[in-house]
Amino acid sequence: MQITSFEQYQETYKQSVNEPEKFWAGIAENFLWKKKWDNVLSWNFSEPNIKWFEGAKLNITDNCLDRHLIEHGDRPAIIWEPNDPEKDSITLTYKILHERVCRFANVLKKNGAKKGDRICIYMPMVPELAIAVLACARIGAVHSVVFGGFSAKSIADRINDASCKLVITADGAFRGNKQIQLKEVIDDALIGCPTIEKVIVLTHTRTPVSMLKGRDCWWEDEVKMVDANCPAEEMDAEDLLFILYTSGSTGKPKGVVHTCAGYMVYTGYTFSNVFNYQPNEVFFCTADIGWITGHSYIVYGPLSQGATTVMFEGIPTFPTASRFWQVIEKHKVNILYTAPTAIRSLMGFGTEPLNGIDLSSLRVLGSVGEPINEEAWHWFDEEIGKKKSPIVDTWWQTETGGIMISPIAYVTPTKPSFATLPLPGIQPILVDENGKEIEGNGVNGNLCIKFPWPGMLRTTYGDHERCKLTYFSTYENLYFTGDGCLRDEDGYYRITGRVDDVINVSGHRIGTAEVENAINMHAGVIESAVVGYPHDVKGQGIFAFVIYPNLNKDADLTRKDILQTVTRVIGAIAKPDKILFVSGLPKTRSGKIMRRILRKVAEGDTGNLGDISTLLDPNVVNEIIESSKTL
Ligand code: PRX
Repeated sequence: MQITSFEQYQETYKQSVNEPEKFWAGIAENFLWKKKWDNVLSWNFSEPNIKWFEGAKLNITDNCLDRHLIEHGDRPAIIWEPNDPEKDSITLTYKILHERVCRFANVLKKNGAKKGDRICIYMPMVPELAIAVLACARIGAVHSVVFGGFSAKSIADRINDASCKLVITADGAFRGNKQIQLKEVIDDALIGCPTIEKVIVLTHTRTPVSMLKGRDCWWEDEVKMVDANCPAEEMDAEDLLFILYTSGSTGKPKGVVHTCAGYMVYTGYTFSNVFNYQPNEVFFCTADIGWITGHSYIVYGPLSQGATTVMFEGIPTFPTASRFWQVIEKHKVNILYTAPTAIRSLMGFGTEPLNGIDLSSLRVLGSVGEPINEEAWHWFDEEIGKKKSPIVDTWWQTETGGIMISPIAYVTPTKPSFATLPLPGIQPILVDENGKEIEGNGVNGNLCIKFPWPGMLRTTYGDHERCKLTYFSTYENLYFTGDGCLRDEDGYYRITGRVDDVINVSGHRIGTAEVENAINMHAGVIESAVVGYPHDVKGQGIFAFVIYPNLNKDADLTRKDILQTVTRVIGAIAKPDKILFVSGLPKTRSGKIMRRILRKVAEGDTGNLGDISTLLDPNVVNEIIESSKTL
């Protein structure tokens, strides 16, 4: 199923559009099914109702583990690199990973988990995280992984939204020279989570934790009490595989739902093609499994293809800015998949951290999560890829399950900062505000997809109407991505960024309304408005305009207090980079905040604010501009 030439891509693409069902059925033949499908696809985007491979029976872990055992049981499945370079890395072969997943799946059963139950996972980047994810899939439980940077309140909201029954966590996590007390955060969260019956805790940092009798147990003890024989649960194609929460325009994160068969086929196909993965190569995706990139391209995609996937616990700059490069040299990484924010941050250290490090194993480079600027693209190409490794700039989303628009390595001619062309099976269109298709090349518009693909979201957990409203109602019969996009003269796509109230900070999606809600919870705050602004390393930074009338402490301390509140409510990842105290916000007569003006102020571009005559009180703007000069 690997495409090896541009002509073949063009042919395949044509076929995938003309006969999508035949095309995807052909791809699906490369996977292991307990029973094949009766019907490849039924769909409408109006409800929406999307079903792929209906009637098929499978388990994704049979594809990620069992099917590799006979021929490749001793091949490394996961190479784990710890936060501390002085500690040993760990390699789990397919045989060992299979054994450990089955054993932990039995632990889950022993603790009352069964098919369909939701399980929250809040863990550090250790092999046990991948094992926990796969063990859920093994027994048909639905995992909901929450990134280690989220607060107790965020976790509680997610646990309650999905009525989770179990939590899998660890005592703590290492991140550079910091430690995060994961179990403590979970304990705080669980005060408000009545559905949780059991908590399984892995020992990792060896920090003391409180263990509640009857509820909490140790991972290490539990695995000793069960055997490693656990046949995979038979799942229907459209049974839920996982929920992953992501931010949108409104305050409350949505639980994006992915199902078994389509997600498996799509992540496997895109992994194998986009990265041109060859047997025995080492693939290193630097994301955290708490995000979709980690789900699809650390765990499911690589493992379904029998690949060797690197899991890195640490951060690129600890203990030094050479760390990423040392990991690549040490494990002879062939394919590196990372984010523009990491590239920009490392670029800031110059080439000195690269001295004496052998990067010659690298063959393909990938970028994901946000637009990559040309400067970072060229640095990546020249200094890391030595101009011989193609860069695949992959555009996709939590909702799309896998990569959608991207070069295929060694196939698609690349162009800096362009995600280039749609993968086979993906039918993008650009529309104007009224949903009218913008045809031809050299045009800009809102990016939509007009035909289903197997990896797409099926619903938002517990609220199908919200899924319909968010993605399928803006434009009739189209999936709306929320992104703006340029199609250039060559028909190449370049993603220009979100057109909704979502900001992309270091490749992480954060809803402005979410941050505003958190700031507004702070005592003394009357109202706030949050916008994104260009940030050299993070891509976008968070700028908050806050009405706080009685500044009785000094402004700096109050700013820090507000940051504490945001950290408590959402997590450190949502902390504003800048807070400006103002006495009013620019509102229209109907009470809507004119964010356009705030964005200009945040960008420092106050020369031409456009028409402000519709504002209730145009004086507010001058005042905001004046005080912004004091920041
Ligand atoms: O705005 C796009 C941006 O990230 C958004 C999706 O965020 P999330 O669901 O968190 O998934 C990130 C990892 C897949 C998109 O709507 N984005 C993602 N990849 C790119 C990108 N923007 C430009 N270029 C990309 N390659």
